[in-house]
Amino acid sequence: MNVDAIIKILGGSAEVQTLLGVGASAISNYRKRGHFPKSKQPRLLQALQAKGIDDPETLIGFGVNARTGIGATSASILLIISGGIAAYKSLELIRLYRGRGWGVRVVMTAGAQEFIRPLAAAALSGNAVYSDLFSLTDEAEMGHIRLARMVDAVVVAPATANFMARTAQGFADDLASTILLATAAPILMAPAMNPFMWAHPATQANYRQLYQRGIVFALPESGAMACGEEGEGRLAELETITAATEKLLPGKGRLGGIKALITSGPTHEPIDAVRYIANRSSGKQGHAIARALARAGASVTLISGPVNEPPPHGVSLVAVETAKDMHLAALAALPADIAICAAAVGDFAIAESKKTKNKKIKRGVSPTAPTLKLKTNPDILASIAQHKMRPRLVIGFAAETENLLEYAKEKRTRKGADWILANAVGDKDAPVFGSDYNKVHFITAKGLEDWAEASKMEVAEKLTTRIIEELCT
Ligand code: CTP
Repeated sequence: MNVDAIIKILGGSAEVQTLLGVGASAISNYRKRGHFPKSKQPRLLQALQAKGIDDPETLIGFGVNARTGIGATSASILLIISGGIAAYKSLELIRLYRGRGWGVRVVMTAGAQEFIRPLAAAALSGNAVYSDLFSLTDEAEMGHIRLARMVDAVVVAPATANFMARTAQGFADDLASTILLATAAPILMAPAMNPFMWAHPATQANYRQLYQRGIVFALPESGAMACGEEGEGRLAELETITAATEKLLPGKGRLGGIKALITSGPTHEPIDAVRYIANRSSGKQGHAIARALARAGASVTLISGPVNEPPPHGVSLVAVETAKDMHLAALAALPADIAICAAAVGDFAIAESKKTKNKKIKRGVSPTAPTLKLKTNPDILASIAQHKMRPRLVIGFAAETENLLEYAKEKRTRKGADWILANAVGDKDAPVFGSDYNKVHFITAKGLEDWAEASKMEVAEKLTTRIIEELCT
């Protein structure tokens, strides 16, 4: 259920408070939980209809009876069934989802329809089943973009080798693949295929690529296959897939209700209208942490300098350029439970940067090279750590070229951070900036841990596990 969108459509928080006869704290609870209580849904449906929303059930949650509100659900899942023998198991998956009170819309690929009938999925889900990208009837009833957007999670079960390969390549030649490109919701894939196909380097490369991109996997299990062979390739247990789906739902992970702010990427400090001072940070590590925390259920504000990384699903992005703006955005994101400063913030800005092109920065204009006057930028990490609304956990990074551990330990105490993730900047042959890999030393008040070299996604997940241990146990 898209609580924020509903509140926006209905004119904002104050309007919805009046409509539902509740206070501001109730609204903030609904936002945190990601749904409105069932008792309030009929009134919301009426108000949305009055605003001209022709399909308010979709917004509120699938399968709601507009008149009575009966059947209102707390989450909506879009289940994509691709064409493998395990497709029959997804019928049971629909039943398990419904049993948890979740609304389910089903999209079937052409291949899936060779194994199971759309009618069976329609009967079990209580909703029409979609399969055709160019169906005028389907588009009129529920456009594919809307189908992709109005859900809390997209689950592909089973995901065939072919479907994974097409998703990795970004195909959009049928409804299912188009939805995966258009959705902003988290995606879970449960692959199922012959063990040789799963182990094939092509499939494994696709799996790694999709995983790096942020897709969550319920990995196949070992056992006897329908084709008579044994090995890893069987669809994960349906209970495992259901549990993995639940973790993707807003506020349902271990970090549900926890607010995190993350700075990421470089800063650009303008010299004039066309020139700026920047650094080589790619934002990969900060963005990976934002993704991992959001996946674990945290509500994440990602404050990022200019990067090529797309913002992860389910994260609110504040795009900034300068250290000053990053600082302001970080302070505006307080109070928060966790602050992670992964940005490579420029330590200095140009003292008098010009709004127009500076003609003096040109060869031959004066006999000597121009001198740039600098001023010191705010230290975002230190100011958050010393703030009166200091988050419970303040985490910084230290990227050094020499004396890594010594400098990093000193930085932890000097800046007032709880934890520092220290990494060597690397060299020309193995740079850390821009790389997908990182070798981290984890420094706390208790001491030091050396983490093995791992992908930035894995580092993010390890850090998330530590955060869960710290805040939730
Ligand atoms: N940082 C920050 N604001 C700044 C500079 C740095 O928030 N103006 C944060 C970075 O995001 C990182 C940590 O501080 O988490 C370390 O930054 P780094 O660039 O390694 O060091 P400096 O702060 O420049 O270190 P020093 O002051 O020791 O030179």
